[in-house]
Amino acid sequence: MRQFTRGLAEVGAQVLGVGDGAPEPEVARYLSGYLQVPSLLDEEDVIARVHAWLRGREIDAVLCNWEPLVIAAARLRERFGLPGMSVDTVRGFRDKQLMKERVAAAGLRLPRSRRVTSIAEVWPAVEYTGYPAIIKPISGAGSADTYRVDDRAALERVLPAMRHVQEAIVEEFIVGDEYTYDTVCVSGVPVYESVTQYLPNALEMRSHEWVSPLMLTVRDLGQPDMVKGIGLGRDVLTALGMGDGMTHMEWFLTPKGEAVFSEVACRPGGACVVDMMNWTSDVDLFREWARVATQRKFEASTERKYNVGLVFKRAKGHGRIIGITGLTHFYERFRHHIVADTLSRPGAYRRDWKQTLLSDGYIVVRHPDWETARQMALAATTDIELYAE
Ligand SMILES: Nc1ncnc2c1ncn2[C@@H]1O[C@H](COP(=O)(O)OP(=O)(O)OP(=O)(O)O)[C@@H](O)[C@H]1O
Ligand SMILES: [Mg+2]
Repeated sequence: MRQFTRGLAEVGAQVLGVGDGAPEPEVARYLSGYLQVPSLLDEEDVIARVHAWLRGREIDAVLCNWEPLVIAAARLRERFGLPGMSVDTVRGFRDKQLMKERVAAAGLRLPRSRRVTSIAEVWPAVEYTGYPAIIKPISGAGSADTYRVDDRAALERVLPAMRHVQEAIVEEFIVGDEYTYDTVCVSGVPVYESVTQYLPNALEMRSHEWVSPLMLTVRDLGQPDMVKGIGLGRDVLTALGMGDGMTHMEWFLTPKGEAVFSEVACRPGGACVVDMMNWTSDVDLFREWARVATQRKFEASTERKYNVGLVFKRAKGHGRIIGITGLTHFYERFRHHIVADTLSRPGAYRRDWKQTLLSDGYIVVRHPDWETARQMALAATTDIELYAE
């Protein structure tokens, strides 16, 4: 969010920020005004306060790149009569069942699913989807409260853990590799596109601490499997009425080679997805998003120079990092291909891997050749270890 704010200032916009803390100095320098609210998650309160604060000022756009607030931003746009996506359009990107209905209406392949609001409704829903199934919140993020269930007994076991979730969705489980489809759009038409593979799939990354999650951007989007995913992605954006801005979609490539829709958001991907696109093309999409959002123009190169591999590490043990093994050797082998290294060094406290995919930092490599990039990234997953005590 800091970087997007910088981007806005760099393309000449005057930025008024809204947040629930004091802005950090690096952000404050790009703001010409700031409203601190008690809680960003209290949507009614945020809207009332922003409305009162902006009275008498001239505003051209209300923008939000953070998933929980995309609806609030659309409501503010409607209130001020500003251009941009309506509440109804944004709901199609936020409510997973509505999203699926709209994507299905366009004739696209997606998992069977049912919305459920009580435990009683779960049973007929899973009868419809079959096992294995996925149960997850209707407007989730970060794979929170998301479970794969292989049979009735497994479903019975996870239901108590979902009691606090008001609305959930039950879905047919899709077996396949998981990819993203990310864009910058002007009027729903992608002006920049990218695909990233998750290794392993996001749910496994989020479920097992021992995993070093790897994300790899795909340099060559002309491969037949990628063409299928991109075609699906473009159709999804049309079906949902995307406007200006960035999108982040997830899809599966099944063993039979079918591209299946999973979900899409009308905001950029988190967990360094934008940075990875920037390293892929040597561009600054934080600034380009800002140009699109304020002037509906995109000026960066779309050339894909590298496959970029980013590996998150999780230390063994609790407390503070006490040592790292394998890193020196990794630098000896791949120094010229490493573009970032934020791995926590000895003395730093561990981060909560459940709370943030950033975990105990990441290392990023890139190479024009897919297999070389993949092998380097895989080496970072297996050969570098962090220890904590
Ligand atoms: N129908 C499905 N079949 C197979 N895997 C699934 C299915 N639905 C979800 N998953 C797995 O669970 C993960 C989280 O689900 P989903 O993306 O819908 O939730 P989310 O919490 O919005 O995710 P995030 O915010 O992390 O992108 C997916 O990335 C995928 O790995
Ligand atoms: Mg997701």
